[in-house]
Amino acid sequence: MNILVTGSNGQLGSELKKLVAAKTDNSDHFFFTDIEELNITDETQVKAFFEQNSIDFCINAAAYTAVDKAENEPTIARSINVEAVRLLAVQCQRHRSFFIHISTDYVFDGMGYLPYTEENLFNPQSIYGETKAAGEMAAIKNTPETIIIRTSWLYSTFGNNFVKTMLRLAQTKPEIGVVADQIGTPTYAGDLAQVILHIIAVISENKDKNFVGTYHYSNEGVASWYDFAHAIFEMNNLKVKLKPISTKEYPTPARRPAYSVLDKSKIKKTFGIEIPHWRESLKSIFPLIDR
Ligand SMILES: NC(=O)c1ccc[n+]([C@@H]2O[C@H](COP(=O)([O-])OP(=O)(O)OC[C@H]3O[C@@H](n4cnc5c(N)ncnc54)[C@H](OP(=O)(O)O)[C@@H]3O)[C@@H](O)[C@H]2O)c1
Repeated sequence: MNILVTGSNGQLGSELKKLVAAKTDNSDHFFFTDIEELNITDETQVKAFFEQNSIDFCINAAAYTAVDKAENEPTIARSINVEAVRLLAVQCQRHRSFFIHISTDYVFDGMGYLPYTEENLFNPQSIYGETKAAGEMAAIKNTPETIIIRTSWLYSTFGNNFVKTMLRLAQTKPEIGVVADQIGTPTYAGDLAQVILHIIAVISENKDKNFVGTYHYSNEGVASWYDFAHAIFEMNNLKVKLKPISTKEYPTPARRPAYSVLDKSKIKKTFGIEIPHWRESLKSIFPLIDR
């Protein structure tokens, strides 16, 4: 099978690359691309890529992910998170490629108090969330063979993320204030990458079954950003004075959901997976992380 991965220098893309490199069965061919090889906003490039390569699965790990910056760059955010998704979906439809697109908990307003299911309605509170919601619709509208996976609070040993920021701050700041009134679940991008590869295997082995639709995936458990930071310091024996603060005390250009825990029942049942607790996955990355 030929599998295209876009945005493969990002957190999720890099974790996919790492897993594929470690695979002993190399029967599938992966095209790992980022903006230099395949700019997904460029229609001519996207068209040519699909014409020249017979793609069975397209994993769209590319995105505009700068949540706060998006408030001032809505046009760029839309071109990557909506328009480019439409371009990919159109080509997937034309070439009968299965489209796996990644979305976010930020499509919800966060005013709930129970884990969000796939049936909950969008109500994004930020430009980033708005573009990701529109991207989901662009995918579904343009190709029937689509899976959307919404995830949350992604971190990895690659790229920039909350874990790395906390480790960096711990070296310079005697006291760190972290928001304690936003609740969600951290997700190790390596776990998500593994699930995506598993989903591709299941779809390929069960061609008569219909798997299209939206799925939620994060690690198990619930945390505030404060809990997340606390665990990062505790697991690294870092004696940092950690102070819980409110969202009001840490204003950001983009509004974030106060509660965005995702209900993962559907993905677990459909694909027969077990999901590690966020603390377990977090612990596993520290030997791998560069400081
Ligand atoms: N990060 C999170 O906390 C989080 C939470 C929930 C959901 N998600 C979703 O999960 C997915 C993966 O996120 P991530 O954290 O792995 O993202 P990431 O680290 O920001 O990676 C995205 C990659 O896409 C590339 N890219 C940007 N514009 C492109 C273009 N026009 N053509 C091709 N590639 C392009 C980026 O390159 P540059 O770096 O050069 O721009 C980057 O390498 C995204 O759909 C995101 O919305 C992320």
